[in-house]
Amino acid sequence: MRLNQQQLDQFRTEGWLFLPELFTPEETAVLGREAEAIFHTPREEIWRERTGAPRTAFAAHTYNEAFRLLGAHPRLIEPIEQVFGEHLYMHQFKINAKAAFDGDVWQWHQDYGTWARDDGMPEPRAMNIAVFVDEVMPINGPLMLVPRSHTEGVLAAGHDLATTSYPLWTLDQDTVTRLVAQGGIVAPTGKPGGVMMFHGNLVHGSAGNITPYPRKIVYLTLNAVSNHIRTPTRPDWIAHRDFTPIVPVADDALAAYARGWRAAAA
Ligand code: SIN
Ligand code: MN
Repeated sequence: MRLNQQQLDQFRTEGWLFLPELFTPEETAVLGREAEAIFHTPREEIWRERTGAPRTAFAAHTYNEAFRLLGAHPRLIEPIEQVFGEHLYMHQFKINAKAAFDGDVWQWHQDYGTWARDDGMPEPRAMNIAVFVDEVMPINGPLMLVPRSHTEGVLAAGHDLATTSYPLWTLDQDTVTRLVAQGGIVAPTGKPGGVMMFHGNLVHGSAGNITPYPRKIVYLTLNAVSNHIRTPTRPDWIAHRDFTPIVPVADDALAAYARGWRAAAA
């Protein structure tokens, strides 16, 4: 799959691009079921909110077949290879739960700030791709983006160890106010299967989820192989050390897995 010129222009100017319903209900249903099963396991890769609800399941592509297929899916890999002009490896893979009632806030931040400070990534040549597993609604804590903020480079940030269960390099209110005055805020919503890609320096965050509707989103962080991390400080299930280029699977591999899974369950 290739992006057209209008999509490439929107990404370069605005710093983000939303592709509605890129995955089918059949494909996202199996991801949803497997994510819920993963959240119930006691793996160290699963970070929990202070309530005990799941917050993030890291590295599921290394221990779950459906997420392995998603992590090498051509609908995700090919457009990002097109943008960076080289092969990619998986820097980070996570399923963010934003659980019903308990899903906590993600403070305003840039991801490349963390990849540079904590992992020694040389350039912002890694891309975030969000795959909606549940419907993302205005009310269940959608990801909010500040358009065009990716042009600001790495902004000063403080290491917030207190607000949530997860340490994050966060931006101060004056910085966010200035950037929002220029670019506004967008919060793309849509059915399961929607895909949003956004630049590593794009400022983003999300509010808590007090609704009965979970908002599971899978995030792939695909890094250009030549831009591999140099000085990682985080566990390898958060910042991967395997820089092998991803070989895409067949376009129907996840759908075939979903059909097999349904047949086995029947
Ligand atoms: C993130 O920025 O890494 C996650 C934000 C979210 O899932 O709402
Ligand atoms: Mn982020």
